Amino acid sequence: MRFDIVTLFPDLFDGYLTQGLLGKAIERNLTQIHRHNLRDFAPDTTHRPVDDKPFGGGPGMLIQVEPTVKCVEAVQAQSTTPARTILLTPQGKRFNQPMAEDFAVSERLILLCGRYEGFDQRVTDILEPEEVSVGDFVLNGGEVAAMLIIDAVVRLIPGVLGDEQSNIDDSFSRGNRLLEFPQYTRPREFRGHSVPDVLLSGDHGAIAKWREEQTQLRTNERRSDLL
Ligand code: ADE
Repeated sequence: MRFDIVTLFPDLFDGYLTQGLLGKAIERNLTQIHRHNLRDFAPDTTHRPVDDKPFGGGPGMLIQVEPTVKCVEAVQAQSTTPARTILLTPQGKRFNQPMAEDFAVSERLILLCGRYEGFDQRVTDILEPEEVSVGDFVLNGGEVAAMLIIDAVVRLIPGVLGDEQSNIDDSFSRGNRLLEFPQYTRPREFRGHSVPDVLLSGDHGAIAKWREEQTQLRTNERRSDLL
């Protein structure tokens, strides 16, 4: 699966793309992540501005329509596989696990990262992207939101996780729309806090039952809206 990130700050992704599970997935060519600098499409090639003041007044600057549309069109043309275009904005549809699962079955995603006060409305009118928000808060730009989406989607690409079952057990995921049960590893006891006996019993039926109960309890306590 290929991701194309359109951004004013491509270097922000440097460390992110080389570390951990994502770094490995890229190394193993399970995913390809390309970065594109919007400034490369600025009409003024000397100072390369891509933002301007809003017509009608108001605070801040907007990203202009011309470099954005040209950049996305150029990125689309790099591959014959058509891409879904996602525009990151706090005004978009809220990202969640079913959306991650839906994105993971597409072959190619273009992630359009805003800065300042966002994009000229005509970006949306012309490109008709899917507008996505990662939560009800305002970030300094779409880059962190793009990382978040890539993180959630890449885990779902077959072969990326060592153990595919963890995708199914994870909180919110297919087969489990509730919160995950608590887990423990060695030591068995630390500062008077012990691992529940049932997990040491070797009784798989009892363990499964306990985990199911914990899932219900935890979800009821913390996120009853999911029940
Ligand atoms: N850009 C700024 N805030 C954002 C948010 N909450 N989600 C997606 N993109 C954003």
